This record gives sequence, structure tokens and C-alpha cells, in this order.
Amino acid sequence: MQEKGNKMGKYVWSFLVILLLSAVAACKHEPELVIVEDPGNGGNPDTLIVNPHPCDPDSVYFNSQVLPILVSNCAMTDCHDAITAEDDIRLYSYAALMGSDIVTPGDAGDSDMIEVLTETGNNLMPPSEMGGPLSAEQIGILTQWVNQGAQNNSCTPDCDPTQFSFAANLQPTIELACVGCHSGSSPDGGVALETFAQIQAVALDGRLMHSLQGTGGYLIMPDNTLGLPACNIAQFQLWVNAGAPNN
Ligand code: HEC
Repeated sequence: MQEKGNKMGKYVWSFLVILLLSAVAACKHEPELVIVEDPGNGGNPDTLIVNPHPCDPDSVYFNSQVLPILVSNCAMTDCHDAITAEDDIRLYSYAALMGSDIVTPGDAGDSDMIEVLTETGNNLMPPSEMGGPLSAEQIGILTQWVNQGAQNNSCTPDCDPTQFSFAANLQPTIELACVGCHSGSSPDGGVALETFAQIQAVALDGRLMHSLQGTGGYLIMPDNTLGLPACNIAQFQLWVNAGAPNN
């Protein structure tokens, strides 16, 4: 009991410190993940998980919007992949793109990457025989992203209780809410939750849902809290029902 309290204390503190540091360093107004002990709850600890990077509908995000366009239209073999690198231009990652010297952050009008999208004849990219030009919507996304500063940015969509992708929905939750105690050489409860295989194993033997719901005689997880928000638990349940795939 004593040990668990200490561990949770450390956990809470580390997040509060991260919160404080990031607030001071970046003066950001984005909410961060906070797991708080709620003193107004009869002394019962409570859980509050706030989306660390909610998606702003007015922003374009590199990871979910720009990179998929580049990867499927530009970074192919014989074009702008790592090996062929036509004209020394590589478009398979943020670092590669920015190292290719075709983007002026904040100025689409001065960015070759944007200019070639609407060129004619041989100057058009992607070339017409490779499926070019991009759609007006795709060009709009790339243009807006450059004009917004060409940042290596990403966001987390708000919890949707019908979504249950391991990579997009579940693993981020586990990383935020579980890995602090369930990692390393002596994870709490003897359960490590760092890899897909480890998480899938406790999903398939039933311990994951029991722990998330506090049923079957299991302590509710995260330990010392009232549990995850219902929406997150619903996502885990759908995933387990589907056989805990690596989706
Ligand atoms: C503050 C530390 C802490 C956090 C955070 C935490 N756990 Fe635990 N977990 C424990 C401890 C301690 C135990 C051992 C509980 C016991 O004695 O039965 C445990 C046990 C477990 C077990 C094994 C249950 C059993 O008896 O076999 C599972 C599964 C589990 N946790 C899943 C999770 C999941 C999923 C999360 C995130 C949603 C989570 N835990 C977050 C501390 C934590």
C-alpha cells in the first residue's frame, strides 16, 4: 500500500513537473496530460486525462496530413525516395523534406515544392505519367502547411468511442496512463506493457479489461485512480472483442 502510494506520487509529480516545465519553456496554452488526485472526492484519487495535443481544425498537421500525401505521391522508387532521390530531393520524412531545400517556412510563394505542383509540361510534379497533378485539396493542404510555418507537427484526435486502432488509439493511452508503472525490469504486478506482444497477452487472457474496469477481483487501473475515462475503456473493449489485433 505504502509502496503504491509512493509510486503514484512520483508519477503525479513527474507529470506536474513536465507540465510546469513545458508551460514555462514554451508558454503554450495547450492542455497536457494530467493525472490528478482529486481532493474533493472524499479523499479518493481521481483520474483526469486531457488530450495533450488536440487537433485544431484551422491547422494543417505534417504527420497526419502532409506526410501521407508525400509518401504516396512523391517518395516512390525512381522518384524521391531515400535511394533514387531525383534532384537530391527526398520526401519520405520531415527531416528529409526540410533537408531538400524546397520549402521556405511561412512562404508558399517562395517554395519550390509548392510551385511545381501547378507547373505545366515537364515541370509539373508529380509528372502526369505518375498521376500528377495532385488534387486541388491536396495542393491546398501542402500550401497551407507551408504558410503556417512548415512545422513538424501532429495532433491527437479527441477520443472517439468507436475507434480502436492499437497504434492510433490504444498504445498512446497506455503510454500516457500505464507505462510509468508497467515498464522496466520489475514492472508493477509483474506486468510490462511496453510492447504490442505484452499488451496483447494481457488483453487475451482477460486481465486487461478486468483491470481497466476493476472487475473479477482485480484492482482498477491505473492503480490508485477511479479508472480511465469511459470513452477510452470503450475503445479497449472493442479492440479486445476484435481479438486484440495489431491494427
Ligand atoms: C501507479 C502505478 C500504476 C499505473 C499507472 C498502472 N498500474 Fe497496473 N498495476 C499496478 C500495480 C501496483 C499492480 C499490482 C496490483 C495488485 O497487487 O494486484 C498492477 C497490476 C496490473 C495488472 C495485472 C493484474 C493482475 O493481478 O494480474 C494489469 C493487467 C495492469 N496493472 C494493467 C494496467 C493498465 C492497463 C494500466 C493503464 C491503464 C495500468 N495498469 C496503470 C500499478 C499501476
